[in-house]
Parts: sequence; structure tokens; C-alpha cells
Amino acid sequence: MATDDNIPRHVAVIMDGNGRWARKRALPRHAGHRSGVGAVRETVKLAARRGVEYLTLFAFSSENWSRPRDEVSRLMRLFVEALQREVDELHRNNVRLEFIGAREQLQPGLIDKIAAAEKQTSGNTGLRLIIAVAYGGRWDIVQAVRQVAGRLAAGEITVADIDDAAIASQLQLGEVPDPDLLIRTGGEQRISNFLLWNLAYAELWFCDTLWPDFGEKEFDEALEYYARRQRRYGHTGEQVEAVS
Ligand code: IPE
Ligand code: IPE
Ligand code: MG
Repeated sequence: MATDDNIPRHVAVIMDGNGRWARKRALPRHAGHRSGVGAVRETVKLAARRGVEYLTLFAFSSENWSRPRDEVSRLMRLFVEALQREVDELHRNNVRLEFIGAREQLQPGLIDKIAAAEKQTSGNTGLRLIIAVAYGGRWDIVQAVRQVAGRLAAGEITVADIDDAAIASQLQLGEVPDPDLLIRTGGEQRISNFLLWNLAYAELWFCDTLWPDFGEKEFDEALEYYARRQRRYGHTGEQVEAVS
């Protein structure tokens, strides 16, 4: 077991493999997405229990809009249903729910549900659960740069004020600390345009398990992997040992 002091504060997850999970069972892809909701529920519980402070889940990417129309519309319906079904329980468990991504691209019914869920849970002090929908890492950087450029054009800042912090503060995750650990299920070892800026120093953990099958065993394996890493941020191992 990982001990409390080496539990990642922020875990980000690329929940991949729903389609293959369904195909293995000769089911339609949306059955895989539906089954994936159970793994989300389980992961939220585990993260809270293990003392993770922030959990960011990649649910739908900017590029996923290119999937067949039927799959996209079923996914959107599933998001609405899952919100309807889960928010009260999340609220009872003191979870604060937030969304990142281009929400104006979503249908009005879903936008309303998201806003209501964020409002209902905004005062909660437990796990911060952040769901990325219609999210892309490049889109995020572009929208942040646009905001900085707007402030520059308005004369509120100068070119010299544009630094790491100025951009980072306008990103979707804003003041949320960078993810310490990235988990990707489904066997692929790539970032797929997730939190490009914020993952700069995340530890990466990949597993072959398909998302609907992800559970306690896999989550704890990821935490154990994380606990064994020495995070150096460009320093030498000796330097890191000297301060710890
Ligand atoms: C991840 O599972 C869920 C979304 C991207 C919405 P996939 O649907 O990508 O599953 P595979 O990769 O096809 O198995
Ligand atoms: C990444 O999975 C996006 C989400 C999990 C929401 P994809 O299945 O879309 O990624 P690629 O296309 O295999 O890189
Ligand atoms: Mg996939």
C-alpha cells in the first residue's frame, strides 16, 4: 500500500477502452460507455478514500466530435442521465463537481445540468471531481492565450508580464495544482490532447485494462507505482535526496 504522504494530490485519468470492451462482448459501443459509468463511480469513491484531493477525468475530447453522430448523441444523453442519477449522492459525499472544456459546444440541456451540479456542490469541501468534456489540451492553451492577449490589447498588462503564471492562471484548471499522476487505461500509451500544459511533470501510468473493468486493484497499482517514483523536476537525484 502507498502511504499517506506519497499519495498524489491530483490524479488525472484518460478513461479509454469502452468501445473495445463492448466489441469483445459483441455489444454496441454505447453499451461500453454505459458500463464505463460504473468505473467512474468506483474511481471517485476510491480516490476520496485514499486521500486524493483532485480527480480529473477525460470523458470526451475535442476530437471525439468526429465520431459517428449516433455515438456522439448517445454519449451526450448518457452524460445528462449520469448527472441526473449521480449528483445527489456525490453531494452527500461532500464531493465538489466541476467541468472543464468548451461547454458552449454542448446541447443546452446538458449545459444546464452541468451548471446546476456545479452550483449544488460548490460549497463541498471533500474531493474535487473535475470532468473534462469537449476538452482538448491545445484548445485550452489557445483560449488561455486569447484571454492574455485580450488583457494586453486592453493595456492591462505589458508583453513582459506574459510568463508561465500568466498563461497557467487562464487555463481551464486555473488555480488547481498540476496532476501528479496520469492514469490511462485501454493499452494506448499516448496523451491524446489531454492536459498538455498541466501534465508537464506528471508521472505516467498505463494499463491494458479496459475502462469498464477498471477498479480497486488497478487504482492501487497506479498509486503504488506513483509512490515509488522520485520526482526530480530537472534536479539530480542527490539534490532531491538532500532536501527530503
Ligand atoms: C473512451 O473509450 C471513451 C471516449 C473516448 C468517449 P473509447 O470509446 O475510446 O473506447 P475504444 O478506445 O474505442 O475501445
Ligand atoms: C481519449 O481517448 C479521449 C477520452 C478518453 C475522452 P480516444 O479514444 O479518443 O483517444 P485516441 O483517439 O485513441 O488517441
Ligand atoms: Mg479510445
